[in-house]
Amino acid sequence: MLGCGGGSDDVAVGEFPPVDAALTEGQPLRAFARLQNQSASAAEFSATLTAAPSSAQLLPGTSTPMWLYNNTAPGPLIEFAENQRVAIRLDNHLPQETTIHWHGLPVPSDQDGNPMDPVPAGTSRVYEYHLPEGTAGTYWYHPHPHEETASQVARGLAAPLIVRAADDPLAHLTEITLFITGVRLDGAGAISPDNALDWSIGRQGETLLVNGSRLPVHTLRPSTTQRWRILNATAARHFRLALEGHTLTLVGTDGGLLGAPVAGLKDILIGPAQRIEVLVNASNAPNARYRLRALRYDTDILGLGTYVDEDLLTLATTSESPAPAVQIPAVLRPIADLGVASVRQEIELGEIHDLCRRNGATSAFVINGQIFDPNRVDLVSTVGRVELWDVVNNTGMAHPFHIHGTQFQLVSRRLGNVVTPAPYLAWIDTVVVPPGHTATIKVRQALPGKRMFHCHILEHEDNCMMAILDVRAV
Ligand code: C2O
Ligand code: CU
Ligand code: CU
Repeated sequence: MLGCGGGSDDVAVGEFPPVDAALTEGQPLRAFARLQNQSASAAEFSATLTAAPSSAQLLPGTSTPMWLYNNTAPGPLIEFAENQRVAIRLDNHLPQETTIHWHGLPVPSDQDGNPMDPVPAGTSRVYEYHLPEGTAGTYWYHPHPHEETASQVARGLAAPLIVRAADDPLAHLTEITLFITGVRLDGAGAISPDNALDWSIGRQGETLLVNGSRLPVHTLRPSTTQRWRILNATAARHFRLALEGHTLTLVGTDGGLLGAPVAGLKDILIGPAQRIEVLVNASNAPNARYRLRALRYDTDILGLGTYVDEDLLTLATTSESPAPAVQIPAVLRPIADLGVASVRQEIELGEIHDLCRRNGATSAFVINGQIFDPNRVDLVSTVGRVELWDVVNNTGMAHPFHIHGTQFQLVSRRLGNVVTPAPYLAWIDTVVVPPGHTATIKVRQALPGKRMFHCHILEHEDNCMMAILDVRAV
């Protein structure tokens, strides 16, 4: 049995009303509202994010109640710079507690918006941190309250965050941000709550949106080269992204640029919470249309999380003459191996039959045999220590494994006796571990304090599949 599925109110995926048809398709890709810096000094970024009940027009003539940051769906894009000091005030106008988690950023543990640090309804707090050199990359922010992360994100609280470097080697390229979310509406146009199947394998049956709209069209002059930052902000979807008629050049992952571009990729897997940066060189054919698609990917052995090919966006070329070629540097930035590990830890993703918190189900996905307890320390490390973690998946479905506080490096993957070394060094904060696989990663925490590590299927995180790493000062 797949965790937490024992409820009697199971709803099959196919029973959700089809909202695809009603959601308006084919509009030009939306640009993001940007969070404005209120500080007079460029060395500092200060602003306020208000989390509040709001609404959005998703279906014609119907307003869908949502919970939003600063009244926009998705929330405003934040653009920080390396070396900036950040002070973001959160005003919580929601009817329940919330937090803001700066997913992937190396912020102090007491500024990380973890569930032990809630901002109660009707109150506010300021998150303050400094962005060190080397953090340039694509991140996102979302709530992380105890047991309510999935519901708050499903109602609309999530948005992209970009950290820019002064010496970005790809700064000459125009870029777009593609923030992929899912929405599932009930017959009245309201966001439907999670059901028992969602609590088992993650939220199902959602209509995919890019920058808040369904199947937008992005129009380019033929032969244009662009940098696309793609973020998977869905609760549970794994996308094997492919662009019809094109290959993709991977230049960045969760924690920023790779050492060198990886060209010629037919598809790229991006699990829940993951980000990639790709270069797209549009076809030289005028007036052509190509779909950005999520190809079939099987997340579990029972076929519950299998998705057929789905379209996300249309790339359209204009009738203009081809754009001139641009230079792509052969080297992007140095990435050093974290070095020799002094400790090796095993993290087992498992399943137990025990009372799960949600839906009264009788089984739960867990980490090292235990359901999440905010008052327990599960693992201890020390500041600066390089560790190898073997993340062993003994369940029947894929889990996107995420660690707070730092970016880590994938060393290898193992299935049975077959070990596959990571093809290149990259900074990531989330790694997809398919059923039966072990992912071996190298981790180093630079700051002391308690850090969450968990599955980023939001329903798994809320339920039981989360644990605490205590990083102690030396
Ligand atoms: Cu986006 Cu604890 O994570
Ligand atoms: Cu995180
Ligand atoms: Cu999981």
